[in-house]
Amino acid sequence: MRYITIALAKGRLAEITIDLLEKAGLCVDEVREKSRKLIFTDEVNKFKFILVKASDVPTYVEYGAADIGVVGYDTLLQEKRDLYEVLDLGFGKCKMIVAGPEKMKDKLSTVNHMRVASKYTEIAKDYYHHVKKQSVEIIKLNGSVELAPLVGLSEVIVDIVESGKTLKENGLVVLEEICDLSARFVVNRVSMKMEKERIMALAQKLNSLL
Ligand code: PRP
Repeated sequence: MRYITIALAKGRLAEITIDLLEKAGLCVDEVREKSRKLIFTDEVNKFKFILVKASDVPTYVEYGAADIGVVGYDTLLQEKRDLYEVLDLGFGKCKMIVAGPEKMKDKLSTVNHMRVASKYTEIAKDYYHHVKKQSVEIIKLNGSVELAPLVGLSEVIVDIVESGKTLKENGLVVLEEICDLSARFVVNRVSMKMEKERIMALAQKLNSLL
């Protein structure tokens, strides 16, 4: 039997995903050890786990370096990879939103040449071009996006809100909601054909645990 490789997103989703995989009967002991290793094995069930940056999960899965990925819907929308989205895991719930200072509330569609800072440039582009049909300048940032409107880098941001704490502590408010987000179970297109039985058995098991 060959190994099935699962790419896990480091960060917020990792712990919940590992707990869930354990409940589904996989041996994740090696993953839990706080080592610097990046690849772990469950010899009994013939699974491998790789821990990668969230934004790289879709890449590993599209190229087949991982058969399965567990990653946020935000990352899937941003990375636009060709994958099979099999299951909404329902955890890691949050929202993609437009946020800014309260005073921007009435100005959103009237500001000329609005600047939008985001880590999620593709999501921001799709939203402004296709949904709002508004021409804006998208500025790519890699983190601490809430800072941008505070120092005049942009008028608004497109970002994730979970508890709302980060926005609140920086005096920003949600101006528009773009979409709901949660963790997704994605599969490589070829793996889905070659290992359908084992992959779907795992997906069904996870689904029954949600
Ligand atoms: C995310 C997001 C917000 C924050 C929202 O950032 O970009 O900054 O979490 O969470 P909250 O609504 O519960 O406050 P993350 O912590 O992933 O780090 P980043 O600043 O590097 O994007």
